[in-house]
Amino acid sequence: MSEEPILVEERNGCTFIRLNRPSAANALSKEALLGLRKSCERIREDVTTRVVVLTSAGNKTFSAGADLKERREMSQEEAREAVTLIGEVMEEVASLPQPVIAAVNGSAFGGGLELALAADIRVFAKEGKYGLTETSLAIIPGAGGTQRLPRLIGIGKAKELIYSARRISGEEAFECGLCEQLVPLEGVEEAARVLATRIAKNGPVALRAAKSAMDEGFNETLTEGLAIESRAYARTLATKDRLEGLQAFKEKRQPKYSGE
Ligand code: COA
Repeated sequence: MSEEPILVEERNGCTFIRLNRPSAANALSKEALLGLRKSCERIREDVTTRVVVLTSAGNKTFSAGADLKERREMSQEEAREAVTLIGEVMEEVASLPQPVIAAVNGSAFGGGLELALAADIRVFAKEGKYGLTETSLAIIPGAGGTQRLPRLIGIGKAKELIYSARRISGEEAFECGLCEQLVPLEGVEEAARVLATRIAKNGPVALRAAKSAMDEGFNETLTEGLAIESRAYARTLATKDRLEGLQAFKEKRQPKYSGE
């Protein structure tokens, strides 16, 4: 019996989604993508999930991207459908209302790196290699890479990397802003867990409001962005958690947020 390609585990308000095809370099097969979509649909509605961590089984390759063996057997029309599916699934990840951390425990190429780009925050392994390698396969990044990479690291560097299909080191990824944290491979999951735990202590409604304010406002004018921020702030005003935060401050104790 084949193993589940996606494993989901909930711990103290943090939901871990794990790509589980280590013998295939955690490549994103159709089955894995459908599993990822299903997990996102469930997590989106789950108020107990305060933060999501995306990671992989094994300790060598976070994900080698699209499943190239599966792709080789496809007709042109099937390949088109596969690209649509991977793009849609990345959108599912990016549009999760909770903060998402990619714990990139090994190399990430193509769709594997695009998956990390769909997260809010990336923790990379020092020892890994990273690249949008698609042009070397005579295709282009089709799961958000041409749009998210320039927004994250700037258009010039994104063009250099996408045109050359170069595989860069962890150090170069960190220097150009492709990841927010760079740690030794064996420490990636722990670093993500520490960050997730810290995030999960904060007000759940506030976290969602902060995420949507930044994501929705990022490509708008400052004036429109400020209006988006104001609407997002309003969602926190009527919450019990806002009053709990003030009360805890007065009593010099840690707040306990319920998400209400
Ligand atoms: N799709 C399907 N299978 C893949 C894969 C992919 N994208 N990438 C790797 N695999 C498979 C390999 O074929 C191999 O399977 P096998 O044992 O049946 O031959 C297995 O995963 C392990 O890969 P291998 O290359 O032996 O391991 P490695 O550690 O030496 O190298 C990579 C791992 C990821 C560096 C290398 O496989 C690679 O460069 N893959 C292509 C990555 C890429 O360009 N992706 C972009 C897709 S658009």
